[in-house]
Amino acid sequence: MSANWTPNSWRNKKALQMPEYPDLAALKDVEDRLSVVPPLVFAGEARNLKAKLADVAAGKAFLLQGGDCAESFQEFHPDNIRDTFRVLLQMAVVLTFGASLPVVKVGRMAGQFAKPRSANDETIDGVTLPAYRGDMVNGMAFTPEKRIPNPERLMQAYNQSASTLNLLRAFAQGGFADLHKVQRWNLDFVKDNPLGERYRDMATRLQESLDFMEACGLTSNNVKAMRETSFFTSHEALLLNYEESMTRVDSVRGGWYDTSAHMLWIGDRTRQLDGAHIEFLKGVDNPVGCKVGPTMEADELIQLIDALSPDNEAGRLTLIVRMGPDGVKDKLPGLIRRVQSEGRNVVWSCDPMHANTVKSDTGYKTRHFDQILAEVLAFFQVHKGEGTHAGGVHFEMTGKDVTECVGGGQKIKETDLSARYHTHCDPRLNATQALELAFLLAEKLKEDRQRGNI
Ligand code: PEP
Ligand code: CO
Repeated sequence: MSANWTPNSWRNKKALQMPEYPDLAALKDVEDRLSVVPPLVFAGEARNLKAKLADVAAGKAFLLQGGDCAESFQEFHPDNIRDTFRVLLQMAVVLTFGASLPVVKVGRMAGQFAKPRSANDETIDGVTLPAYRGDMVNGMAFTPEKRIPNPERLMQAYNQSASTLNLLRAFAQGGFADLHKVQRWNLDFVKDNPLGERYRDMATRLQESLDFMEACGLTSNNVKAMRETSFFTSHEALLLNYEESMTRVDSVRGGWYDTSAHMLWIGDRTRQLDGAHIEFLKGVDNPVGCKVGPTMEADELIQLIDALSPDNEAGRLTLIVRMGPDGVKDKLPGLIRRVQSEGRNVVWSCDPMHANTVKSDTGYKTRHFDQILAEVLAFFQVHKGEGTHAGGVHFEMTGKDVTECVGGGQKIKETDLSARYHTHCDPRLNATQALELAFLLAEKLKEDRQRGNI
């Protein structure tokens, strides 16, 4: 950590994408209240995740990060938390089976409420209002009152995160994550899908492996790893006053930790080297991430790595690449070569969502399943070519049967989008599409393993 870093040193830097609160006294009051609430996570847990991510960096594990684009106050319901958690676990089981590697599970959950926007305002029918920036900032309804940033929403987001995390911890450790239950996934997507046979085949082989282990005496009753799992939380560290208020010194080992989540990342719009977001994350000891969009240059990337991970500590920094299939093919090899030649230790992860957002003819923001898949496959291909480890994937997804992304085995069409389009921000993969993607990736990982590439 740099000598003059403090949890509020970001305030001397330029902070993009932060709301302008009309009532600064009310904001200060909320910040003061947040600075004494119980931490959501403990430093030891963040260190634990860092150690697991160090395994990912070393090619010994795979990272699965996923969840809502934006959590919302309105969709806060235990069933939604359960369903997203379940699909993430199912995806993890499939990927573990394919890669024969442990999968580190990190939710975009319990804190992912604030959104960067490409425009500050939104105009509808000649009326211009401040853009919606996520439920933690203002309301989605297009009225002047709702669009005013309200600091009490920071408190509500904290409270919702606390209850969400409480349920996630119970699910992870209380029996819900038992491997035998998790693998009973919904195979709806194999119906009418030409790949159906292959999916069914993998599901059967997985079941056989579990039966075999059981016959050998490895059951959920006597093997903890079969009935419990570790699950971590993450969100974009966008609202720095919230993150600052949640930052505490670790009473056990010292060092500052942002206790709002295990892992925090910086978005593609706020990763300026001299900006407030980099300044803030520099000083906390959590594992951190940074999005790497299509405009990133190799020199800039090295400076960014040096800023966020000056000790080059394994597991500290995850680069979340999001540049579209062509960007990945054209630009990523150069970035990887430079990082390798300078000996920097990072996790490479692929976000195939954010460079693949398009407007459908029916007016909805959507993403094509095939484009998402193409970006992940290009990411694997490039890493194979460079001899590096494609460490993980980062998805926007939900456990619900929404119709927000087109394509996949369910063959969702643009005209179907209106049926169940519920997202508060970007279009998410639904449960079936997310699982289908995991199966396709698992097959790919397995092929690579069999050819000796990983
Ligand atoms: C996001 O992850 O929701 C996001 C806004 O991503 P990016 O910063 O990559 O655009
Ligand atoms: Co998004």
